[in-house]
Amino acid sequence: MDLHNKKVLITGSSRGIGRALTIKLVGEGCEVWGIARREKLLKNLKSEVNSPKNYLYSAIDISQKDSWDQIVKSLRRKKYHPDIVIFNAAIFENDFINGLDFEKTRKMIEINYLSVIKGIQALFPLLKTNSQVIAISSSSALKGSGEEGIGYAASKAALSIAFESLYLKYRNKIHFKTVFFGPVKTGMSPFSRHTILSLSEEDAVRAVIKSIERGDVISYYPLIIFYAYKLAKLLPSSYYFKFLTFIDEKIHQRLIVESDD
Ligand SMILES: NC(=O)c1ccc[n+]([C@@H]2O[C@H](COP(=O)([O-])OP(=O)(O)OC[C@H]3O[C@@H](n4cnc5c(N)ncnc54)[C@H](OP(=O)(O)O)[C@@H]3O)[C@@H](O)[C@H]2O)c1
Repeated sequence: MDLHNKKVLITGSSRGIGRALTIKLVGEGCEVWGIARREKLLKNLKSEVNSPKNYLYSAIDISQKDSWDQIVKSLRRKKYHPDIVIFNAAIFENDFINGLDFEKTRKMIEINYLSVIKGIQALFPLLKTNSQVIAISSSSALKGSGEEGIGYAASKAALSIAFESLYLKYRNKIHFKTVFFGPVKTGMSPFSRHTILSLSEEDAVRAVIKSIERGDVISYYPLIIFYAYKLAKLLPSSYYFKFLTFIDEKIHQRLIVESDD
C-alpha cells in the first residue's frame, strides 16, 4: 500500500511508539491525526514533524465519557475520514504492588480496552470500505504474571479477542488487524537495557508499517516469544506454571538490576 496522502488516526501519539510512528508516517507523506492527553507534547511534536500542516491533533482523554463524540466532531469539521486507525494508546500500572488495587485495574481496562471499543463504534460512520483498524497488543495478553499484575494483561487479552471477532464480522468491509509486541525498549517499558529479545522503537514502527502494507490479520514481534508462550500453554499445567514462574523470576531480577543502575 502506498502510504502517500493516506489519513492515519493514531491514539497515543504524544510519546513512545505512537510518537515515533507519527514522525515516520508524516515523513512518508501521510496526514496524521494524533490523540493523547498532554497537549504540550502534541504541540511540540507538531513543530518536530517534517510537514507540520500534515499533523493535526486532539488533546483528550479517550476514557472520558464524551471524548469520542468530541473527536468525531473535530474530524467531521475538517472532513477527515481516516484510511487507517491505529489504537496504540495504553497505560501500564502495576495493580499488584500493594495487594490488589482495583482502581488501577479498572483504569487499565477502561483506557486500554473499553475506550478502543467505544472509539470503533464512534468512528464507524467515518470509515470507508477497505479502511484498516489496527490494535497494538502485547505478549502480556498471552499469560498471567505475578510480577506485572492483572489489569494490563487482561485489557490486552480482551482487546486481542475483540479484534478477532471484529475481523470475522467485518472482513469484507474493514480490515481489523492486531500487532503484538514483546518488550519494546521505549515508552511504558520498565526496562531500559537492551536484551536479545527486546525490540527497538524503530523495530516497532517498522512492524506497524509492515502490518499496514501486508494482508496479515495478526502479526507477532519477535515471533519466538509468542511461539514459546503458545507452546508452553499446551504443556501440563504444572510445567506451564513452572515456565511462568521462571519468566516472573527473570522479570523480578531485571527490575532489581535496573533499579540499582
Ligand atoms: N513499550 C513496550 O514494551 C510495549 C510492549 C508491548 C506492547 N506495547 C504497546 O504499545 C503501545 C504503545 O506503548 P508505549 O510503550 O509507546 O507507551 P507510552 O510511551 O506510555 O505511550 C502511551 C501513549 O498513550 C497515551 N495515552 C495513555 N492514556 C491515554 C488516555 N487515557 N487518553 C489518550 N491517550 C492516552 C499517552 O499519552 P498521554 O499520557 O499524553 O495521554 C502516550 O502517548 C501500547 O498499546 C502498549 O501496550 C508496548
